[in-house]
Amino acid sequence: MAHSVAVVSGDGIGREVIPQALDVLRAIGGCTLEELPWGADYYLKTGVTIPRGGYDTLRSFDAILIGALGDPRVPDNRHARDILLGTRFELDLYVNYRPVRLLDDRLCPLKNRTRRDVDFVVFRENTEGLYVGAGGRMRPDTEDEIAIQEEVNTYRGVHRIVEYAFEFAKARGLTKVCMADKSNAMTHGHALWQRVFKGLAPRYPDIQATHLYIDALAMLLVQSPDQFQVIVTNNLFGDIVTDIGGALQGGLGMAASGNIHPGRTSMFEPVHGSAPPLTRDIGGSLGTREAGAAVVKRLR
Ligand SMILES: NC(=O)c1ccc[n+]([C@@H]2O[C@H](COP(=O)([O-])OP(=O)(O)OC[C@H]3O[C@@H](n4cnc5c(N)ncnc54)[C@H](O)[C@@H]3O)[C@@H](O)[C@H]2O)c1
Repeated sequence: MAHSVAVVSGDGIGREVIPQALDVLRAIGGCTLEELPWGADYYLKTGVTIPRGGYDTLRSFDAILIGALGDPRVPDNRHARDILLGTRFELDLYVNYRPVRLLDDRLCPLKNRTRRDVDFVVFRENTEGLYVGAGGRMRPDTEDEIAIQEEVNTYRGVHRIVEYAFEFAKARGLTKVCMADKSNAMTHGHALWQRVFKGLAPRYPDIQATHLYIDALAMLLVQSPDQFQVIVTNNLFGDIVTDIGGALQGGLGMAASGNIHPGRTSMFEPVHGSAPPLTRDIGGSLGTREAGAAVVKRLR
């Protein structure tokens, strides 16, 4: 039976990369594809970010494919928040699976590093942390403004992503899982990550469980990426370190990701955003074809 896939090209470069992804899916076969028009244009035209019942519509598919969201004409990115973050939260897609794999030695920006050195996976917690939108602004747009953004860490939320990372490593015969936090400074929320990680590690005696502060991880990813197999971290840190991962792979355009709730409808998207500088229709000077041609030239 064919798998049904909802497709949201979204904005900017999303509208250039998705047609290529659809060509690949059509070549593989076995999917029925339904394109949904949601994105900045749709929002600016209709005032609707995601239609009523939109998350249920998404749930009715086997999988969701999204290009990218973000458009300078929507400065508060409201549509992106509703479509992208909204889908992650509403469908409870708690695993953000971000493989970092160098496909060609010549794409790596590091000296003397090869495909063998850049091959790891980051699991980013995808439904909590600093992305829940908790907080507020007092006296906004004045010199007395106070802006508070709160980070949410729940035992259940942290437990399920850390456990998923260990289970992933075990299922693939991998031997190293590294948890990254900032528990030296964020003594409440990240103490919970420490407790969960240390509590789960003994269940996996064949896996070396290590901990790094996120700043040290950022440095080591550049210095010696070969030491990592599986990394698990929170929503914000995962977002940031996978841009480093994208760079190690040859650029953000190479980085793919899955937003997963095991056994349920999940969403797949590139790691990059709408790349305004690369996208003519939202103000850029270069299209993907020219950017792609530049990479091919570099490789030759
Ligand atoms: N998942 C998403 O949809 C997502 C993720 C990140 C940012 N955003 C949004 O995208 C907009 C732009 O954000 P940004 O500039 O910080 O990040 P971005 O990922 O769009 O672009 C950063 C840089 O990465 C490179 N890049 C991005 N996509 C590429 C591709 N397909 N091929 C080659 N290089 C590529 C470009 O050099 C670009 O200048 C903002 O509105 C932001 O909120 C959306």
